Amino acid sequence: MLDLLIAVDRERGDLARQLTAALRDGVRAGRLGGGSRLPSTRVLAADLGVSRGVVVEAYAQLVAEGYLTSRRGSGTRVANGVSQAAPPQPGAGITLVPAVRYDLKPGTPDLAAFPRTAWLAATRQALADARHSHLGYGDPAGLPELRAELAAYLGRVRAAVAAPERVVVVSGVAQSLALLATVLAARGHRRLAVEDPGSPGALALLRAHGFDPVGVPVDAEGMDVAKLADSGATVALVTPAHQYPTGVVLSPRRRAALAEWAGAVDGLVLEDDYDAEFRYDREPVGCLQGLAPDRVVHLGSLSKALAPGLRLGWAVVPEWLVGEFREAKRYADLGTGALDQLAFAGLLTSGAYDRHLRAMRGRYRARRDALVEALARRLPAADVRGVAAGLHLYLDLPRDAAEAAVVTACAERGLGVEAVAPMRLTPGGPALVLGYAGHSQRHLALAAGLLGEAVAACAPVTTSRRGAGQPG
Ligand SMILES: Cc1ncc(COP(=O)(O)O)c(C=O)c1O
Repeated sequence: MLDLLIAVDRERGDLARQLTAALRDGVRAGRLGGGSRLPSTRVLAADLGVSRGVVVEAYAQLVAEGYLTSRRGSGTRVANGVSQAAPPQPGAGITLVPAVRYDLKPGTPDLAAFPRTAWLAATRQALADARHSHLGYGDPAGLPELRAELAAYLGRVRAAVAAPERVVVVSGVAQSLALLATVLAARGHRRLAVEDPGSPGALALLRAHGFDPVGVPVDAEGMDVAKLADSGATVALVTPAHQYPTGVVLSPRRRAALAEWAGAVDGLVLEDDYDAEFRYDREPVGCLQGLAPDRVVHLGSLSKALAPGLRLGWAVVPEWLVGEFREAKRYADLGTGALDQLAFAGLLTSGAYDRHLRAMRGRYRARRDALVEALARRLPAADVRGVAAGLHLYLDLPRDAAEAAVVTACAERGLGVEAVAPMRLTPGGPALVLGYAGHSQRHLALAAGLLGEAVAACAPVTTSRRGAGQPG
């Protein structure tokens, strides 16, 4: 069998032109042999997840160019004698592999909703207002303008204890973790705990910086602090606002216990304030740092609120540690880009940042609701876990569904999903993480249907529902 991979990239636009080029290349290279019959426009459109008009246009163009022939009754075929390659072996056929139609892998916000106009206006204003000195080497901790705006914002919205002197501007949570790994190792911290399951990116980053994190189980209340106390760790990385990936919120008593633990072991909590901007069922609870500002480093970024490509974030660091953190930032890169800092400060001052978040909250909430509702219909044997928040949801699969097989079956249907197994330090039940931020409600409903088919193909006899409380 000859395989023909046709991938259309929606972000590049002009799908008809992309498809025309892909088919033309296939004919020229001999991967589509002379006389081969192509799928009907309806079937190919469905396979690729494009409108039928796109395929009709591509076929018509290639007929006009002489690469294809079209005759009533015998469909569309590859013309003979146009291949520039050796003829294919007898019996060769075509398999059309669809590109990913719906990529529900988590991690990015709706990039199409980036507030380009507001960011452009803020950048223009920043450039107009910037003094020459703004363009020199500044304080590696960031521009005073942004640190003051962030301190006010985090105090107002997250109940953080954040004087500007404690705020350090970074290129994202990832950089904060890298800097903390250096600073904490120099202070003699050897044992660092992470949530299990937890962020595979954070785990890999900490390993790359010489730590061998110990996993502490997460249950319906968040990280199990009693088990943390048994782990021998003196530093704990947590996502209290919306645990990644399970979506649970750290309960009030666990928050108090965690702050107490940090004091008792003379340790530190690293609070990744992941997804705090997007709570849909009610107002988000304040951050952990507000409870124990001398024992918690509070970490945030614009990666979910605006776009990860900005590479802009912040850390609120205890007074006794901020000097070392700032020096680590100096040695890493001498500071974050000044114009982006000024533009973000402008968005905070003008209220455009709050307005954007408010609008996105409504949009994401509707998308989450649509996905949850479609999953309940198309995959009733699976359970959604966690609170209504963030840009992803965690789905416990039926017990007899093999996670890896489901991911493969999804890919065969053009559906991208994230397996939970790589997020675990100890084995657990089958589950998926689904990111919904970048998809319309209609697409999410279609994606849920594909997921239902994929699970049925892997676990046809299942009727069981998993228990909702404990992570598997
Ligand atoms: C748990 C978690 N925290 C934070 C981030 C964001 O990292 P950054 O701010 O460096 O983009 C990610 C990225 O996907 C993540 O998975």
